[in-house]
Amino acid sequence: MEAAALPVAGKVPLDRDGGPRSRRSGHEPERFQESALAALAAVSSYLDSDDDLPGFFGRLSATMADLSRARRAAFWRLGPRGTLTLQPTPFGFADDSPVYGVRLQLGAAGEGVIERVVFEDQLDLVRGTAPALDATWRESGLRDIKSSIAAAWIAGERRIGAVVVYDSPHGFTLNDLGVLRLVGMATGLVWQYKESEDELGHTAVRLEAAMSARRHLLNNIAAGGDEARRRFASALHDDSLQLLTGAELQLERIRTDPNGNHQVQLDQLRNTLRKVEDSLRRLLTNVSPEPLQLPSDMREAISERLESMRVRAGIEPHIDIRLSEEVPQAIQAIALKNISEALNNVEKHAHATRVTVVAETVDGGVRVEVRDDGTGFVVAESVRVPGHIGLVAMRERAQLAGGWCRIQSEPGNGTKVEFWVPRSL
Ligand SMILES: Nc1ncnc2c1ncn2[C@@H]1O[C@H](COP(=O)(O)OP(=O)(O)OP(=O)(O)O)[C@@H](O)[C@H]1O
Ligand SMILES: [Mg+2]
Repeated sequence: MEAAALPVAGKVPLDRDGGPRSRRSGHEPERFQESALAALAAVSSYLDSDDDLPGFFGRLSATMADLSRARRAAFWRLGPRGTLTLQPTPFGFADDSPVYGVRLQLGAAGEGVIERVVFEDQLDLVRGTAPALDATWRESGLRDIKSSIAAAWIAGERRIGAVVVYDSPHGFTLNDLGVLRLVGMATGLVWQYKESEDELGHTAVRLEAAMSARRHLLNNIAAGGDEARRRFASALHDDSLQLLTGAELQLERIRTDPNGNHQVQLDQLRNTLRKVEDSLRRLLTNVSPEPLQLPSDMREAISERLESMRVRAGIEPHIDIRLSEEVPQAIQAIALKNISEALNNVEKHAHATRVTVVAETVDGGVRVEVRDDGTGFVVAESVRVPGHIGLVAMRERAQLAGGWCRIQSEPGNGTKVEFWVPRSL
């Protein structure tokens, strides 16, 4: 298979048949430098090309052959069981060449020429070739190989394989070997980079799976409104409705008993109605409000909740809601649940005289602060009290949404609950 040489950056003068000019005459170190630069530019060009791996190795092999005036070039890769196989695609071999079937099994003793190349990067050059290497190819069925040199394909300590050029009409030089070694090292680094990139790709896929599981979980949590509705319905049924039925019965008794002591009966009825009222108020405070559609609804929900706290417990409310953008419903649901729990705690535990709720859109999310001037408590002692899950649930809800929640308090100094959730799940 034919492959065009990789575009070579930098200034490598080319002669008419495409090879670097004056390569076999003139000043040696200068020529080495030119070839080395051209080879490195060819390797690194892969980093910003769209080449697939066979395409890249095909073009890099063509460049290698070009720079060392070889007829063919190939990369050989070391497998996990010590077998060297061809890395697609080599340059200069016919499609039916036996090279594609060659498997070189490296010996455990490490004394062969291939072992020396791969593990020590050493090769003896005799009259423009490495005779021991040539013999290896011929033994493997590549009978027409006349000359060859090879260098290790490595990334740091890691041995990836070997890079080989074959058949130079004028014989290979030490310069050619030097350039080959550079290519072996540079290709190793690119290879390692590619592997890390793949690994990163896999990690990204795993992360996406975790994110989707998180979104799923979060949707379930946000849908917890259904659960709240069910609790509301059964509490309403078991408590308030039964009391109302009792009140109806009492009223009926008054109506049908013209001789009864109406004063006593009316007092009883008033007591029952008070109980109904209490029971309904209990429901109002214990069940989370339904998730609301718009920021203005969120403000309304918070205001109503604060007002009922003021009436019931005499806690003076302060409210500061600055939600500039529309907050998605799922995020509102989470924010309202956390606010509701924080306010429940203020009412139940704090003996506060003032409570402040601040909500604002910040850093691509919603930040909420609930502060009270009550008794305060030791946070570390209270976050894991068995059977009391309010604080833990607040933190979990925020974290599951990709945000955070901080609780600051100390005895005698009030409490501040602060959380932030991103706008997008
Ligand atoms: N604002 C507050 N002021 C004073 N103490 C508080 C406040 N918030 C929480 N606490 C203390 O922290 C404890 C744990 O709170 P948490 O919300 O986890 O549980 P709870 O309110 O007791 O029960 P529930 O599981 O119903 O929420 C409370 O029992 C209380 O002692
Ligand atoms: Mg609580």
